[in-house]
Amino acid sequence: MIPRKAPEAQAVAIRHVAIIMDGNGRWAKARHLPRVVGHQRGVEAVRRLTKAAREMGLEALTLYAFSTENWSRPEDEVTALMGLLKRFIQADLEEFCANNVRLKIIGDYRALPADVVAMLGDALARTAGNTGTTLVVALNYGAQDEIARAAAAAAAKGAVTVESIAAELDTADLPPLDLLIRTSGEVRLSNFLLWQAAYAEMWFTDVLWPDFTPEHLAEALAAFDARERRYGGR
Ligand code: FPP
Repeated sequence: MIPRKAPEAQAVAIRHVAIIMDGNGRWAKARHLPRVVGHQRGVEAVRRLTKAAREMGLEALTLYAFSTENWSRPEDEVTALMGLLKRFIQADLEEFCANNVRLKIIGDYRALPADVVAMLGDALARTAGNTGTTLVVALNYGAQDEIARAAAAAAAKGAVTVESIAAELDTADLPPLDLLIRTSGEVRLSNFLLWQAAYAEMWFTDVLWPDFTPEHLAEALAAFDARERRYGGR
């Protein structure tokens, strides 16, 4: 269990953290291992951070697992990522249910292979009633695509406003994004949660995703606690 201030002792309650999990390939390359081994170790990091988020009392942890751009990776890498995703959900579904974790997908996941779509559909249904931490996995996700879909849905209902678009985003039922983390030293958003990041704090680290630990998350949350958020005011 990671030491963490009780919510009432935090400067601002942190409800929703998102992570751009980057650096699996470089982690593997540095060890002269195939890229897929980096992704396998990345899944282990997903597992320990999901547990940490739950223990720290976060309402939502959103992970960028597969972007709309990731389809352009070599076919064997895409296949390996789909296999890892499937095995992760299959292996951890009981754990989610036992710990009141709700699974949610953002992005158009129905474009994934049929067996993955079926397995995700089952996992979503089985965890839908859970009321603890929501583990949000971004799959075939791109923020520009999400915003365009939300704007079209808002327009079809008659009014295009900030509020009506926000109500149609894939994240509409989640708390506002508080903190966005990116690992591996890259400092860009890569089409992830562009709308939701409007007032989020950002935390960038050189740590590669397979090496990311709950202690790093606690460090990011402590940095968040120390910052004063002004939302454009003074
Ligand atoms: C970035 O590393 C990582 C990805 C594109 C995929 C992230 C996927 C996982 C952590 C595993 C599957 C996820 C789940 C939820 C089971 P990269 O390959 O771009 O690394 P590099 O920039 O060092 O090459």
